[in-house]
Amino acid sequence: MKKILFILLTIFMGASMAADAKKLVIYYSRADENYDVGTIAKGNTEIIAEMIAAKTGAKLLKVEPVKEYPKAYDECIAVAKKELAADARPEFKPVNINPEEYDEIYVGYPVWWGEMPMPMFTFFEKYNLKGKTIHPFVTHEGSGLSGVARLKKVTGANVTPGLAIYGHVAQNERAKAEKDLDKWLK
Ligand SMILES: Cc1cc2nc3c(=O)[nH]c(=O)nc-3n(C[C@H](O)[C@H](O)[C@H](O)COP(=O)(O)O)c2cc1C
Repeated sequence: MKKILFILLTIFMGASMAADAKKLVIYYSRADENYDVGTIAKGNTEIIAEMIAAKTGAKLLKVEPVKEYPKAYDECIAVAKKELAADARPEFKPVNINPEEYDEIYVGYPVWWGEMPMPMFTFFEKYNLKGKTIHPFVTHEGSGLSGVARLKKVTGANVTPGLAIYGHVAQNERAKAEKDLDKWLK
């Protein structure tokens, strides 16, 4: 009887610890004019980030650059290209969540010139996420899952296989995006 009680207690504690694992979604996303979607009110990556938070109970942390990117797509890609070439570190607004307190972190960004947008580098260089588990997800318009090698390098985290969703699918075909997301979350 004692043995059964012990086993039950162990199972119960294990389940509640798994549910308690602190989960966080860190993401960057830009609204305004973008490729293949016109001018949008909510960024493509943000749509996926919010779905993940709703499905996993994770908190949301949005990385917001101090200096906004241009609203026009052509201007934005020109600025982003220069930043990548310069290996710039654009500042981001202060956040009220400390990502170092989380165990399991979903990291989302739009692929920009084959990499993460540069404010993500500024962000990850500020915090120590070495040894944490990171699940990367991106939205893109053809490059697929890009930028993960540098995400791994800058965080030193255990990066698991990522998810890539077309931006226009996240924006305009949410049921399809959700199906891909559910598969990945499993
Ligand atoms: C500055 C910039 C650079 C981009 N570079 C790429 C790229 O290299 N490869 C790609 O597939 N899509 C690229 N795109 C498209 C975005 O990755 C795509 O539209 C994404 O869904 C935007 O997400 P967001 O709305 O969350 O910012 C680029 C878009 C912008 C604005």
